Amino acid sequence: MDITYYGHASFGVHYHSCDLVFDPFIRPNEKASGIDVSSIKANHILVSHGHEDHVADVETIAKNNDATVVSNFEIVSWFEKKGVSGHPMNFGGSWDFDFGKVKYVQAAHSSVLPDGSYGGNPGGFVVEIEGYTFYYAGDTALSYDMKLIGELHNLDFAFLPIGDNFTMGVDDAVRAADFINCKKIIGMHYDTFGYIEIDHNQAKQAFAKAGIELTLMEIGQTINL
Ligand code: NI
Ligand code: MN
Repeated sequence: MDITYYGHASFGVHYHSCDLVFDPFIRPNEKASGIDVSSIKANHILVSHGHEDHVADVETIAKNNDATVVSNFEIVSWFEKKGVSGHPMNFGGSWDFDFGKVKYVQAAHSSVLPDGSYGGNPGGFVVEIEGYTFYYAGDTALSYDMKLIGELHNLDFAFLPIGDNFTMGVDDAVRAADFINCKKIIGMHYDTFGYIEIDHNQAKQAFAKAGIELTLMEIGQTINL
């Protein structure tokens, strides 16, 4: 399974014929200027919540690829009005897609779309693809509900926000990794703007102390897991 980092909280997950994109925010992100949005392949775009820094490039990537947006009902309806096809979900619901199974789970955050439309409740995803299971937390605080994810799923890796201020910071993310019972964490939602700059070494040490591996990817980098 190949993971490509597009900056901020955006990743591509590629496995066989499956191309997933999470929360694309690329063209407005100066730090991601090396990423060519028109080259991004996607058959499904998973959107955690409606904030601009998670949806900016959804419409473009969806239309370039004829991809399906997977998100909460309100966000999917908003994109459908723009001519993008979607699959609506809500908390606790799972669906078997052609590539695998997706469960939409809670996030402790907020959600409004860029034009002020109601963005439903913010969420995250547990994704199972041919024996791999991972959790994409979206923007969230640490919550005790994360323990349920650890109890119900055997996670191979997880994407957790670590930038603090708008989401949990490093210390709470270490606790979250413990709650979800996952030793392999890919950090997201840090360094993009002033409020969420982090010290990379400090972050890695904090996770290492708890026996957890934190990966901080370079923008444009692809890793194989
Ligand atoms: Ni947000
Ligand atoms: Mn955000």
